[in-house]
Amino acid sequence: MKFSGALLGALLLAAGIPALAAGNPLEAAIQDGKQVFSHETFGGKGKTCDACHSNGGVGPGKLPNGKMIPSLSNAAAIFPRFNPKAQKVVTLEDQIRACTKNALQGNPPDAGSEKLADLVAYLTSLSQGKPIDMGGKPQ
Ligand code: HEC
Repeated sequence: MKFSGALLGALLLAAGIPALAAGNPLEAAIQDGKQVFSHETFGGKGKTCDACHSNGGVGPGKLPNGKMIPSLSNAAAIFPRFNPKAQKVVTLEDQIRACTKNALQGNPPDAGSEKLADLVAYLTSLSQGKPIDMGGKPQ
């Protein structure tokens, strides 16, 4: 039996082999980022991004103490933005690294690393098609 590339990609995806998904590097990065988001602890205390940003970040966010935080479904469309606490403009990468360090108490992925690119690709895929609204409100 002969498989087409697309069918093979779909099968690999279904089988959970994201890095090879559809032979498409961008799609692979998105899928890898999704895995990192829900499985990687970054050497912290065992939490993943999903612990607070539920359902891959598209669900409502909730802190361990029950406090609600925004979903990440338009995060990539509203960064960069001014963070009053940090008193500076922060990028999506900065925010991801801050959450890794502060929320997971882990080691943030290096600037330029594959893991950071994968997380950015995944989070940006959630905002695909949404209007850029720099400094806007989370959904
Ligand atoms: C312990 C809870 C917790 C964990 C775990 C966590 N975060 Fe966050 N995250 C927050 C909080 C709190 C905010 C700020 C929400 C607010 O008040 O705007 C936030 C904000 C964000 C935002 C900006 C959302 C927006 O629109 O304001 C992004 C992007 C983000 N987190 C990504 C991540 C990623 C990626 C991980 C995993 C590496 C992660 N977070 C892990 C608590 C967490």
